Amino acid sequence: MAKRGKWKSTLGFVLAAAGSAVGLGNIWRFPYVTGKNGGAVFLFFYILSVLFLGLVVMYAELSLGRATQKNPVGAFEKIKPSSPWKAVGFLGIFTGVGILSYYSVIAGWTLYYFYISSLGKFSGNLTQAQIDEIFSAFVSNPFLTISLLLVFIFLTSFIVSKGVSSGIERWTGILMPLLFLILLILSIYSLTLPGASEGLKFYLKPDFSKVNLKMILSAVGQAFFSLSLGMGAMITYGSYLSREDNLFSSGIEVVAFDTLVAFLAGIIIFPTVFTYGLSPQAGVPLVFKTLPFTFSRLPLGRLFGPLFFFLLAIAALTSTISLVEVATSYLVDERRIPRPRAAFLVGAVAFLLGIPSALSTSPGLFSRFAFGKSFLDLMDYLWANLSLPLGALLLSIFVGYVWGAEKAAVEIRFRKDRKFPGEDLWIYDIKYFVPLVLAVILLFAAFGSS
Ligand code: PHE
Repeated sequence: MAKRGKWKSTLGFVLAAAGSAVGLGNIWRFPYVTGKNGGAVFLFFYILSVLFLGLVVMYAELSLGRATQKNPVGAFEKIKPSSPWKAVGFLGIFTGVGILSYYSVIAGWTLYYFYISSLGKFSGNLTQAQIDEIFSAFVSNPFLTISLLLVFIFLTSFIVSKGVSSGIERWTGILMPLLFLILLILSIYSLTLPGASEGLKFYLKPDFSKVNLKMILSAVGQAFFSLSLGMGAMITYGSYLSREDNLFSSGIEVVAFDTLVAFLAGIIIFPTVFTYGLSPQAGVPLVFKTLPFTFSRLPLGRLFGPLFFFLLAIAALTSTISLVEVATSYLVDERRIPRPRAAFLVGAVAFLLGIPSALSTSPGLFSRFAFGKSFLDLMDYLWANLSLPLGALLLSIFVGYVWGAEKAAVEIRFRKDRKFPGEDLWIYDIKYFVPLVLAVILLFAAFGSS
C-alpha cells in the first residue's frame, strides 16, 4: 500500500487546516446569516458556539484523526470495529459532497466577479440599481453559473488528485495572510463611511429580545460550517499529523484565525449596507451586492476589487479541497481506488448534485423549490444547519463515551505526563455540554414549530 500522506511541518498543517476553515463560510455565509438573524445577537451566540462547541469539537476531531491515522470511516472502525459507528463517518462523507455541491456554485460566482472587476466593471460610483443589475444578469444565466461550477470543481479535483501537495501548503501560507491584510484595509475604509455607526450598532449591539431557537441553531451551524467541523474534515487533516505536532496550540490558532476573518467580514459589510441603504437581510447575494459599492468608491478600488475576489476564490479553493479530500481519503484508504480516479469521481457526483443549485438563481423550478426556499438555500440549510450539528453530536458521544474522553485528552496533550490547559473542562464539555446542547437544539429544530 502506498504510504499515507503527512504534513511537512506543524505550520504546514495549521495553514492547511486554516485554509479549510477560512473560506466562503467566513466572507460570504457569515455576513449573510448574521444579517438575516438580527445582527449582534447572532454574533453573540456565534462566538459562544465557537468557544464552547467549536473549539471543543475541533480537538475531538483532530485527536481522533491523529490517534487512528485514518479517514473518518476508518477512524470510527479502528476504535470500535464492526459497529454501526462508522455510519457517522459515512454521514460526514455525504455531508462533504452535499456542501461541496452548492459551495462550488458560489465559488464560481467569485471567479466571475474576479473577471468583471478586472475589466473595471465596478469603477465609477455605481448605483444600487446598476450593481443589482450586474448581479441579476449574471446569476440568471444558467450557462455561466453551471460552467463556472464545473470549472471550480474540476480545479479542486485536479489538485486533490495530485495529493494535497506541498504546493498548496506553501501557497496558502502566502495567500491567506495577504487576504487578511486586504480585509484589514477594507475594514478601515468601511469604518470611515457615513453609515458606519449605524452598521456597527446593528453588528455589535445585541437586542436580546430577538433571541429564538432557529437563530441559535443557525449560529451553531455557522460555527461548525466555518470551522469545517461535523463532517470529518478535521479528522482527515488530523490523520496526516504526527506525534511531534502540537495539537493543542494548532487547534487554537486555527479557530482564532477563522473567527477573526469572519468578524472582519462583518466589519466590512454592515457599514456598507447601512451607508447605501441596502437590506442586511438580502441573504445569499449580500456580499456580491455590497462589496462592489466599496470597490467602486474606494481609492484604488480598481486594484482592490480583482485582488479581493482572486483571494476569495483561493480561500474557497482551499476549503473545497478539504471537502473533496474527505471522500477521497475514504475511497483511497478503504476501497483501494487510485487517488486521481477517486478525486474526479467525488467531483463528478458533486457537480451533478450542484446543477440544481446553479439553476436556483434563474427563474424556474429550482428558484422556489420547497418551503419557499430555493434549491441552493435548502441545501445550505440541510447540510450546514442540520447535518453538521448532527455529525458533531454523534462524534462527541463517540469520543466522550465509546473511545473515552480521558483517552482522547491524552492524545491532545503535548507532553503525555502533563495535562493540557483546560483539560478537565474539555472532558466535561465533550461528555456533557456538547451532546446535551446539540441534542436539544436538533430536537427543537426537527419538531419545533419555528
Ligand atoms: N469552513 C469552510 C468555510 O468556511 C467550509 C467547509 C465546511 C469546509 C465544512 C470543509 C468542511 O468556507
